[in-house]
Amino acid sequence: MQWFRCATPYINTFRNRTFVITFGGEMLTDDQFPHLVEDLVLLNSLGVRLVLVYGARPQIDRLLQQRQITAEVINGIRLTTDQALNCVKDASASVRVEIESRLSMGMFNTPMAGSHITVTSGNFVTAKPVGVRDGIDYQHTGEVRKVDAKAIRNLLDHGSIVLLSPLGYSPTGEIFNLSAEDVATFTAATIGADKLITLIDGDGIPDAKGALIRELKLDEAESRLREMSTVNEDLAKTLLSAIYACNHGVQRSHIINRHRDGGLLLELFTRDGIGTLISPERYEVTRKATIEDVVGILDLIRPLEEEGVLVRRSREILETEIDHFTVTIRDQTIIACAALYPFSKEQFAEIACLVVHHDYQKAGRGNQLLQHMEQEAKKLKTKEIFVLTTHTGQWFQERGFKGGTLKGLPLDRQQLYNYQRRSRVFIKKI
Ligand SMILES: CC(C)(COP(=O)(O)OP(=O)(O)OC[C@H]1O[C@@H](n2cnc3c(N)ncnc32)[C@H](O)[C@@H]1OP(=O)(O)O)[C@@H](O)C(=O)NCCC(=O)NCCS
Repeated sequence: MQWFRCATPYINTFRNRTFVITFGGEMLTDDQFPHLVEDLVLLNSLGVRLVLVYGARPQIDRLLQQRQITAEVINGIRLTTDQALNCVKDASASVRVEIESRLSMGMFNTPMAGSHITVTSGNFVTAKPVGVRDGIDYQHTGEVRKVDAKAIRNLLDHGSIVLLSPLGYSPTGEIFNLSAEDVATFTAATIGADKLITLIDGDGIPDAKGALIRELKLDEAESRLREMSTVNEDLAKTLLSAIYACNHGVQRSHIINRHRDGGLLLELFTRDGIGTLISPERYEVTRKATIEDVVGILDLIRPLEEEGVLVRRSREILETEIDHFTVTIRDQTIIACAALYPFSKEQFAEIACLVVHHDYQKAGRGNQLLQHMEQEAKKLKTKEIFVLTTHTGQWFQERGFKGGTLKGLPLDRQQLYNYQRRSRVFIKKI
């Protein structure tokens, strides 16, 4: 009862959201498959818009073996000959029928009773050939070229579950064997899905000691990928897809264990989940600047100095004043900075050179950095902070600063005032 109540916020959040869920052909022979289908039906009845992408690798392998066809895997890519393509088509068709029939069940005494689900498959994925690489022609092995987002969205709008196979078609009518993971990833990115969920054999992404990582921000995921790519290629590929999706507008990527009964629901409707969640946020750190940051700060402030928004600081001055600076770092790049000059005797401090890189403005960073600087000033027992600015008075006023006069500032600062710039003074009690 209690867990169901705890699920309420998630139920509200997920209504009308789009999830792309992908699983390999192994899922169909797994004991958990009937339960997975029940859980998909539940999500559908809660108003979640579902796109399912299936793989068919074991089914293809079985047919290849039965028909005594060899399909080489070279550099991790399967070469699909005409004969092999027939196996791919047959295997994919039978997996599709199996999934469709499961989703059509509405038996009494099961969680599926009363469910009327429409499942639609179609020519939504345009493919292109992998082509000739290192002298090898991969023939019918292809890559995703385009996904028909409009058609998929249309079907989702009408309550259909969209089922995508690992096959794609070219405008000339050729058929290509694709990786289901690629189809899912491109589709999630193209239709602007809220989630990409990949069901795998293991628990999720492990750390270097093998323990499951519950959550990864984008930059952590990228560094984990670098460590993993030589150790576990399949899992690295799954992580790469999750990263790609998050880098292309998908809100969350989940990697979860397909063997767990109710794994999908546990991942979605409980706070901790069961697998690995990758989110598109990146880590940013705000810290005191060091001498190594001088070049980065100069890169950030030079354009504004040239526009006359900031007073020009030479490299030498910046080096001597670097201890006054605080920087915000993202992806090893300085994206914001500010300086604090205390006037201890007067219990005053000046905030200067508050800059947020143009690409990162209007996201609250300036505000956060100002608050950070205020905290720093408080630690120095400062009672009032002030800024001198020509362009940004309004911004500071909206954050509690009041217009002041030069005479209200510490004497030492008054003497340094640049009368040509005619900066205005803004003061805030803290
Ligand atoms: C001022 C500055 C630091 C704000 O950074 P930011 O990360 O965009 O700040 P926030 O996200 O907290 O605030 C953004 C809001 O401030 C507004 N804003 C930005 N510059 C402004 C200005 N000069 N006057 C008034 N409002 C301004 C934005 O329009 C935005 O408003 P909105 O949310 O209603 O769209 C940044 O615009 C900047 O680097 N400016 C150039 C350097 C500068 O003038 N520094 C101050 C001198 S020390």
